[in-house]
Amino acid sequence: MAGVARWWCSSVGARGAPSPAMEAGSWLPATSPWATRLVAAARTDCHDGRRCGKPATIPAAPPWMRGEKGRRAALRRFLQLLRVCSRWASYQVLTAFGVSKVLESGHSGYKAGDLVWGIIGCEEYTLVTNPESLFKISHPEFPLSYYTGVLGMPGLTAYAGFFDVAKPKKGEYVFVSAASGAVGQLVGQLAKITGCYVVGSAGSDEKVNLLKTKFGFDDAFNYKKEKDLNAALKRCFPDGIDIYFENVGGAMLDAVLLNMRLHGRVSMCGLISQYNLEQPEGVRNLFCIVTKRIRVEGFMVTEYFGTYSKFEEEMAGYLKKGKITYVEDVAEGIENVPAALIGIFYGRNIGKQLVAVARE
Ligand SMILES: NC(=O)c1ccc[n+]([C@@H]2O[C@H](COP(=O)([O-])OP(=O)(O)OC[C@H]3O[C@@H](n4cnc5c(N)ncnc54)[C@H](OP(=O)(O)O)[C@@H]3O)[C@@H](O)[C@H]2O)c1
Repeated sequence: MAGVARWWCSSVGARGAPSPAMEAGSWLPATSPWATRLVAAARTDCHDGRRCGKPATIPAAPPWMRGEKGRRAALRRFLQLLRVCSRWASYQVLTAFGVSKVLESGHSGYKAGDLVWGIIGCEEYTLVTNPESLFKISHPEFPLSYYTGVLGMPGLTAYAGFFDVAKPKKGEYVFVSAASGAVGQLVGQLAKITGCYVVGSAGSDEKVNLLKTKFGFDDAFNYKKEKDLNAALKRCFPDGIDIYFENVGGAMLDAVLLNMRLHGRVSMCGLISQYNLEQPEGVRNLFCIVTKRIRVEGFMVTEYFGTYSKFEEEMAGYLKKGKITYVEDVAEGIENVPAALIGIFYGRNIGKQLVAVARE
């Protein structure tokens, strides 16, 4: 058993979010007291019963429900939120990939002072009962926050999904969606290191600029400004796409299929545009997979955890040589976990979203 404290929390991965109720948009403010109380509620259920926070108070009538028109719609959303957030409201501690320092350990593999990353509770002090799932940090010379991103789970996701799943070759045409996010920004840079031509899509002009000027993408476009995604892809890839690193799904996937080349590969990493939908959208252009003999392959980063050490050394080398650069979006304080998490689904993060809970 390893008692672990003081951590940097990466926002919970997109798949872990209790999302349908949040999809509706602005009714849940970024700094929602509701969301904050959910964290307070989570913290009352400390594993060891010693460091419990205040008892949770769930507001009976949140402010956005009071008196104005649309009360019925608001009530519906409130009930939906209750249903969706039942995991949170049942006082379970939220979990996330984070960086921690061991305070006490009853496990022979860990001692006080060790730095580790892995899945831990969203709390200032956490009790880890399965320390085998943690990874020791071998390069403390880098900012520790890198182990929530470029040297941690998202980095390994980009590396495995690009090299092992997509199997790139020099000179190939690569397209990356959600390209300025934690995974996408790394895929683009790994593609450049491999000698590929790489284009990314992102949801703002600022992000597009970042892709071209900081991460070295050959081209990029703001998908929110494009009326016709198929036309945008044809403009960027007149000869078609060899590799699509899929982070978003939906309309983008449909447009990409039309633009894939013969024997192209689609590395299915995630479908963030679908996570909040009550009914996932369909994909219409599947026949392209047949006619163009495209390989579409999903993967889970957890299957690659056994290869972590090799990845860590290679990525640390790229960072030291300046071949990879990394952008983070840091929120301060545990109370900002909910806002940071929800912000991902509106593209508010620029680079890897994480929350600094403590800095030692
Ligand atoms: N397979 C695995 O093992 C594995 C592991 C980790 C992550 N993932 C997946 O990889 C993907 C990227 O993760 P990440 O950590 O890099 O994400 P991230 O840094 O959190 O970035 C998420 C970005 O997705 C974009 N986005 C949000 N909603 C969108 C929508 N409806 N349509 C299009 N874009 C949207 C936003 O950027 P814009 O402003 O550009 O829209 C947002 O900033 C996710 O789908 C995640 O679930 C998979």
